[in-house]
Amino acid sequence: MIPTAVVRNAWYVAGLSADFPKEKLTGQVIAKRPMVIWRTKDGEVVAYDDRCSHKRFPLSKGRLMPDGTLECAYHGLRYDTSGKCVMIPSHPTGPISPQAKVIGFPVIEQDGLVWIWPGDHEISKTRKPPRLPECNDPKWESILVGPMNVPANYLLLIENLLDITHFYPLHDGNIGDVANSYIPIELEEGEVDGNKYVMTIRKTKNYKQTPYFVDWFHYPVVDRHHTHCMMSPAVTRVVLRNQPPGKLNERKGEREYPGRLGIEEDERGYVLVHTHTPIDERNHVWRVLVNSPKHHMSHGDPNKSAARRIAEMFPTVAAEDEWALKLQQQMFEYPDEGYCEVFLKPDLALRRARKIFAELVREQENQMPAQAAE
Ligand code: FES
Ligand SMILES: [Fe+2]
Repeated sequence: MIPTAVVRNAWYVAGLSADFPKEKLTGQVIAKRPMVIWRTKDGEVVAYDDRCSHKRFPLSKGRLMPDGTLECAYHGLRYDTSGKCVMIPSHPTGPISPQAKVIGFPVIEQDGLVWIWPGDHEISKTRKPPRLPECNDPKWESILVGPMNVPANYLLLIENLLDITHFYPLHDGNIGDVANSYIPIELEEGEVDGNKYVMTIRKTKNYKQTPYFVDWFHYPVVDRHHTHCMMSPAVTRVVLRNQPPGKLNERKGEREYPGRLGIEEDERGYVLVHTHTPIDERNHVWRVLVNSPKHHMSHGDPNKSAARRIAEMFPTVAAEDEWALKLQQQMFEYPDEGYCEVFLKPDLALRRARKIFAELVREQENQMPAQAAE
């Protein structure tokens, strides 16, 4: 499958828990489904169709009433937190049609993030959002970069993250160099909590760090362990561990997944959590949660924590990726007409990711339309 589709049967990140204060309405589109999202007085996050059942006016432009119902700003229909219409001003005494309701979306709050399922409700019960312990652990500092609106299919970002041979030339001189392209790649695949994952593992010794990595992690030459894991269509988790030559724990024989805390006590490094939430086939929202042990200070500015320093410098790197993804997406607008995509050795993980996506797209195409809209 080429990157032109959107998977609906997945838990996607709608934002950090802190992005949803009590009783503030937010409108978002996730996987082509417009949603109104808010946290109730009781602290629960609710999400349902953003289109009023009367004339499709966006409910996110309405207001919350003292009794907790949501009032549409156009003709005043009011909905309870289940999406059922409970009041119609122009029918003060008449019965309310059972059709006056809007579809709800399952929500889970976990690891400091709000996850929403835009697809089939029954399938949502068989999968869980991937665990991201570093994002909500008092021993770790977690800083958000973004959200960034990227005009490209989200699979293009996932492919970018799984194939970091693009560090040269795209990020040459900051996080990249050509030596990075020579590092052999191991692959790990499996399934956790109903989510198929694919992970690349790059191990290298006596690696001369590029300028940004020296700034963040001190050591100019390291033994390095670098993993990129597409945990689900929603999240790619990157773990980078560094030690001076000869000191890195190789964790021989262990599987890399599941996501335990990623850095050991005496190591330097980070856990980057990339969340990629599709808006539609050509647009997604990219967030990067930069996580580092709280006590790690940067080399570039000893007064700043490693996480703070990385979060401040990372937008330069992200802008280079955004530039590439946008231009790459534009080239998908033309018919193939003899164009043939070439696969290189480092594309193996990307091919696996496409296969996982193709299976998920098939799953949603096989659903009855009524189920899909449930
Ligand atoms: S469109 Fe919402 S009440 Fe009419
Ligand atoms: Fe990149």
